[in-house]
Formats: sequence, structure tokens, C-alpha cells
Amino acid sequence: MIRKLFKNARIITPFDPGKPLEGKEQGKVTRIERGALLCRDGIIEAIGDEKEVVSHNPGHDLDVVVDCSGRCLIPGFVDPHTHMCFAATREEEFSRRMEGMEYLEILRRGGGILSSVRAVRAVSEEELFSATRKHALSALKFGTTTLEIKSGYGLETETELKMLSVIDRIGRETPLDVVPTFLGAHAIPGEYAKAPDTYVDILIQEMIPAVSQQGIALFCDVFCEEGAFSLDQSRRILSRARDAGMGLKIHADEAHDLGGAGLAAELGCISAEHLLAANEENLRAMAEKEIIGALLPATAYSLRKDYAPARNMVKMGLPVALATDCNPGSSYTESMPFIFGLAVLGMNLEVNEALVASTLNAAYAIGMAKEVGSLDKGKKADFLLLDGEGPAILAYHAGVSSVRGVYKGGELVFST
Ligand code: NIG
Ligand code: FE
Repeated sequence: MIRKLFKNARIITPFDPGKPLEGKEQGKVTRIERGALLCRDGIIEAIGDEKEVVSHNPGHDLDVVVDCSGRCLIPGFVDPHTHMCFAATREEEFSRRMEGMEYLEILRRGGGILSSVRAVRAVSEEELFSATRKHALSALKFGTTTLEIKSGYGLETETELKMLSVIDRIGRETPLDVVPTFLGAHAIPGEYAKAPDTYVDILIQEMIPAVSQQGIALFCDVFCEEGAFSLDQSRRILSRARDAGMGLKIHADEAHDLGGAGLAAELGCISAEHLLAANEENLRAMAEKEIIGALLPATAYSLRKDYAPARNMVKMGLPVALATDCNPGSSYTESMPFIFGLAVLGMNLEVNEALVASTLNAAYAIGMAKEVGSLDKGKKADFLLLDGEGPAILAYHAGVSSVRGVYKGGELVFST
């Protein structure tokens, strides 16, 4: 048993009321001017005012005492939506997009997601693992201590299972906690371009059963979008996944309002992502069911689109989370500090709202809130030391990372 005390820290954290924070509470955080955090074997045992924590734990059985020199201490970021398991970047496509070609037009021409599919099918599991590990460790340096990674660049059973096994290894062979999501419904593979419903049948009859038998994916996701999967196809796929025992997520209304946000409410998805084009009525239906809106501002930024209406969502009581969407096409970044900056400056979230969105609500969005997402007693001692007076530094000091120390389960895993 190892007991560690982190003292002399300005602690800023949400505390977990047992559900995601929403509406007026979206920005509910506690600030402890001179705080301390005590952990045993990586689990938080006490947190609060330094004097109180120390008086209850006088020191004789502490193994390590760390003086945080008054630095700001916040929970580690949780990134609840990434596609960082890929084999090659798409720089040439980025240039074409910057010249004006639409993201979905590139996909229609067999590029975009389908070009990543060709690359992932062509590499060995080992090569895919080392490419993915590089992105995961980059995320860790930017302060992400837990993340979700989706499959979706295989689009055939064997390669989807290869991706899920790589994603599973990332969780076992890096300091990060990783939540794997099956996204076989990411695009219609070229071989079924003329018979998309046949691919949906394969997803339902072959792929979901195989994935559920492999037992790695906790969630199933669908890209519900023109040129990808219709609302009806998405409903069929997600219903089958629910029967197979997986949690549900959906890429909803990213470019067009197909009603994905409404489907999320209908099926009781844990979260719906993107929501740039979602209509008000469906957002309200999500809010009523406490479905998390996972917003991906770097995608709007990279696609030069308007940001999702985050203020409106907070106003209607929809719990908001933030994620990178890290992928080689629409949002190539592992940096949660960058997302934090876009959320505050681009989407007008208050700093404390963005903090909750990138920690506690993000943990809820991937079913990890019992373990991570806030600095509650009993959760993992996953936290960051920032170079600044508070989390505002993450948005204010733009284009850099103000994360100076990353602790996972009480262990220092990155410092600068
Ligand atoms: O969330 N929109 C669908 N999927 C990803 C992009 C994946 C890719 O372009 O490779 C997204 O934006
Ligand atoms: Fe995505």
C-alpha cells in the first residue's frame, strides 16, 4: 500500500452528484485555495483544505509528500470521442479541403474515411498499434488521462476486430484508461457502394455478433449522415447493438439534420455527438432524457463550419461534454487544451462550464464517471498541474499547452 499526499495546490474541480451536470450547474466547480489531495494506491482517499486533510492524516504513514508549489490542480481530461486508431494522415486531402472541396464530396469520391480504410486494412496489427500509441501518448502529454477510441476504418469484420484489439492494447500498454467503441457503421465500404443495405445487413447479422463475442467494445456508434447511414439504417444498427448488450452513441446531425439527435433520445443513447445541424425540438428531447451532447469544436474549426449552439444547449438543460474527435480527416488534434480554448472563445462556454464538459460530463459520456472525471473520494487520482492561476489559462494562453504535470492514479506520467 502506498499513500501519497499532494499539498499546497489550488484545487479546482467539479464534485460528482451522481449524474452529469447541466443547465445552471454545467459550470458547478469547487475551488479550494490551499488544498491537498491524499491518495492510497492511486485512489483518492481525502481531498479538501490542506489543514483539514493534514490534521486527519498527520504524516507518519505517508510514503510520499509532494508540494505542488501553489499550482492549479484540476482533474485529468477525459476525451470521450476519438478516431485515433488510424494508419496514415490525409494531408493531401486537407489541402483540397482548404481549396474549397467539401468533406462529404471527398468521401463521395472514394477518399476521406474510405482512404483511411484502405490504409488500415493494409497494415499489420503491430504497425497499427504503434501508430495509435503515438497519438495516445500525445493526448496524455496534453493532459488526457482517459479516452474513448473508435474502430471504423476497417468496415469488414476482420479489420474491425483488428482495430478493437489494438484499441484494447492501448488501454493495457499505456498509462491511459481507454474505452473502445465499435464504429463499423462509419461509411459504406466501396465494395457495397451500390448495395448499402447489404452492408447494413452484414453489420447486423455478422459484424455486431462477432464484435460482441470478442467482448472488447463497450459502445456501438453510427455515422448518421447523408452519404453514410440514413436515420432508418442507424436505428436498425443501434437497436441490434443494444440487443447485443452494447451502450449506444451516435454521430448526429454533423452536416445535415437527418434527425440523429431525435434518434438518440428515442433509443436512449448515452450521448449524441457533433449536433452542428440538430434542430431545437430534437435537442430538447435529448435534454429531457439527460442525453449528453458531446461537442467537437475542432471539427467545426477544421471544416470551417459554425460551431454547435453550446450556449443554447446549456440553456435548455442539455448536459454538454467536449471531445477532440481526433481523426485524420475532419479534426486532427489530440489536444484537449486546444478544444478547451475553442469551447470558451468559439462557443462561448464559461471556463468552469468547459472544465465540467471536459472532465466530469465527458466521463459520463463514456460510462466512466464512477472511476474518473472529478476528484471525488473513491475515484482515481487522475489530475493535472497547470501553469496558471486557474483553468482559464487553458484558453487564454492560446496555441500552447499549459499542462505542466500529468498524474494518472497518483503517478507522475508526464511533466515539463
Ligand atoms: O467525427 N464524421 C465522421 N467521422 C469522423 C471523421 C472521420 C474521418 O474523416 O476520418 C468525424 O468527424
Ligand atoms: Fe467522430
